[in-house]
Amino acid sequence: MPRGGRLHIALANLTLDAFSCSGRELAAGDYVRMSVADTGCGMSEETLSYIFEPFFTTKDEGRGTGLGLAMVYGIVSQAGGGIDVETAVGRGTTFHILLPRTTEQERLPEDMAHGADGTAVGHSEAILLVEDDEHVRTFVAKGLQKSGFTVLCAASGEEALALIERHEERIHVLLTDVVMPGLNGRELSERILARHGEMHVLFMSGYSDDAILRSGIETAHADFIQKPFSIDELTFTIRRLLCSGDGSPEPEARKSMPM
Ligand SMILES: Nc1ncnc2c1ncn2[C@@H]1O[C@H](COP(=O)(O)OP(=O)(O)OP(=O)(O)O)[C@@H](O)[C@H]1O
Ligand SMILES: [Mg+2]
Repeated sequence: MPRGGRLHIALANLTLDAFSCSGRELAAGDYVRMSVADTGCGMSEETLSYIFEPFFTTKDEGRGTGLGLAMVYGIVSQAGGGIDVETAVGRGTTFHILLPRTTEQERLPEDMAHGADGTAVGHSEAILLVEDDEHVRTFVAKGLQKSGFTVLCAASGEEALALIERHEERIHVLLTDVVMPGLNGRELSERILARHGEMHVLFMSGYSDDAILRSGIETAHADFIQKPFSIDELTFTIRRLLCSGDGSPEPEARKSMPM
């Protein structure tokens, strides 16, 4: 919508029978439909036929990568869903995303009285936060405390190691900046995991360039969150990590770093 307009987002439950599934790769069953409608420029038949292709873009160089819809398509397909598009040049576009509906409650850590190893996984899991920037550290610590976590703070890798030595209770997650003076986040995580293999590691960084990738994060058993992030995103990522069992290295998990 280069000149502005209205964006309309709607959710609906939908049941597809065998007839409405014919000619498409969806199984009959219950779906949730999320519709995103804009009053923008719309698309020609020709553009429409390419939109899900990776790197297809009609935007000027440097303005679009052409990966947006390819990623949406990948995510939706992997979830067993499908996408419908209605569009008319000058009139706008509506994307309908269909996702299989589930009636099962997602298992969040607070729903689990006991983790797989029998230890209680309650509300106050301990997070060791390592961040050299004081403002970020305070912001993150406050946010996580509000979300019900117990937060231990360190301003450097060295401080974190000393803190772990003193701390007798279990620490569930190491949440560490990547680029720090002294020990960097990767070195710190290696030192800690050597003795506490069950700990989850979540790296946070504002840099996502090759130098960081090459510094070896992608080989660690860990997840990554790109700065800047909201506390909600952070909490969600931590909960997901906590749900994924203990932090013992799994070869598959190593490869699926979202970087
Ligand atoms: N809502 C829409 N209205 C009109 N055209 C669209 C719309 N969404 C996508 N398109 C067309 O599909 C093309 C591909 O979309 P896609 O999101 O994959 O890439 P992009 O928007 O060009 O770049 P990126 O999302 O990677 O920044 C766009 O360049 C545009 O031509
Ligand atoms: Mg896009």
